[in-house]
Amino acid sequence: MANTATLNIEGKELNYPVIIGSEGEKAIDISKLRAETGYITYDDGFGNTGSCQSKITYIDGEVGILRYRGYPIEQLAEKSNFVESSYLVMNGELPTAQQRADFSKLLTENAPLREGMIRFIQSFPRDAHPMAVLSATLNALGAYYPHLASNNHQNDLAHFDEAAAIAISKVRTIAAHTYRVSNGLPFNYPKPTLGYCENFLHLMFSKPYEEYAPTPEVASALNLFLLLHADHEQNCSTSTVRMVASAGANLFASVSAGVNALWGPLHGGANMAVLEMLQKIHDDGDDGTRFIAAAKAGKGDRLMGFGHRVYKNYDPRAKIIKASFYKALASLGIKNDPLLDIAMKLEEVALSDDYFVSRKLYPNVDFYSGLIMRALGIPLNMFTVMFAIGRMPGWIAQWREVAANPKLKIYRPRQIYTGANQRNFVPMNLRQG
Ligand code: ACO
Repeated sequence: MANTATLNIEGKELNYPVIIGSEGEKAIDISKLRAETGYITYDDGFGNTGSCQSKITYIDGEVGILRYRGYPIEQLAEKSNFVESSYLVMNGELPTAQQRADFSKLLTENAPLREGMIRFIQSFPRDAHPMAVLSATLNALGAYYPHLASNNHQNDLAHFDEAAAIAISKVRTIAAHTYRVSNGLPFNYPKPTLGYCENFLHLMFSKPYEEYAPTPEVASALNLFLLLHADHEQNCSTSTVRMVASAGANLFASVSAGVNALWGPLHGGANMAVLEMLQKIHDDGDDGTRFIAAAKAGKGDRLMGFGHRVYKNYDPRAKIIKASFYKALASLGIKNDPLLDIAMKLEEVALSDDYFVSRKLYPNVDFYSGLIMRALGIPLNMFTVMFAIGRMPGWIAQWREVAANPKLKIYRPRQIYTGANQRNFVPMNLRQG
């Protein structure tokens, strides 16, 4: 295989190195192109641009492959859990028993929030969007732990384990406290005896007179949801985290920026859109039939939660989460939910109707994760927050990869300027229009 690619520009032949990834992905290294020719490449939205070399996550959307650090997502979903997979994603290897115990201890120790942070969360209006509160509070962590947020990568990396544990453990506490504040409920404090997911459910739903004790199926559905979202290579929020990190920013500032990117409806909002679609179908007195017919005719909205930009055969995460979703539903005894009936009808049609089958528009992970969130009692405006809790280890791992790169350069894309050419300033009295 050629290890150079030849480009002919204005009659001049130039050779550029071909980089081959460990799974055979090929890229042309054009990093010297501008210096040598004055040209840059143009790739609106970066769809064909490798922005970095990364050892964290591998995706092959054509065949439905997702691997964290080389381990297939199916194996991790079956044999691991969110906490252990977070360690793997951040550190590159599965933990030994001792490493696992040390990591769990760090998470437990760092679960509570400082009283000042609790007051900070309380100071937001009750109807503040929980993503706004999450982003602000994660950023504020840097102010509470200045020795972990020095904006000096060498120094911040020396404290990486502590900073990572604080972010992973506290993101869950911040999310639950935000929910309690906005609903006028008293805080629950994290319990050292509970696992990660059980503790989150306790923080959210325990009442002063009755502790919330999830069934194993419910805890397992939440665990799977988080594990399946732990990383997804260079998506919008992850690229944002890397971009901010490339300027030398600390971990908390970088992941806070990731939350803001995830907030955008084109990124983290798809599972919410599923529920909004089901509600609309229900409110219209439809059982899904009219909605599907309109979507097929291109006259209505698309079916939210169906199809995927990257996974063209199937979404491996949807396959995994689907089974867990049905188990959680059975254990919660949820029946006669009209939105669920509509969802099941949409799923049935999409899996059998030629329009959807021929276009490979199968249900994606967001279809089931939205339904799981609803079944767990998570309010709609917190769906994206749940995604952020799951994605935290991935953002942290990506921050670490950038911070530890000895050849790090600040990310600085170029542009093709298409604005006005030079012109002279127009005084106010001569301006028109
Ligand atoms: N419902 C109905 N028809 C659809 C849907 C859908 N959800 N998705 C695609 N189609 C149709 C298109 O109309 C088009 O039909 P045509 O060939 O007759 O013109 C064909 O399928 C291909 O559509 P594209 O837009 O080219 O497919 P693409 O792969 O670019 O889009 C996307 C993927 C954006 C995810 C799309 O399937 C979609 O809008 N889905 C609904 C939103 C959604 O669930 N997003 C979350 C994705 S998961 C995530 O991002 C974490």
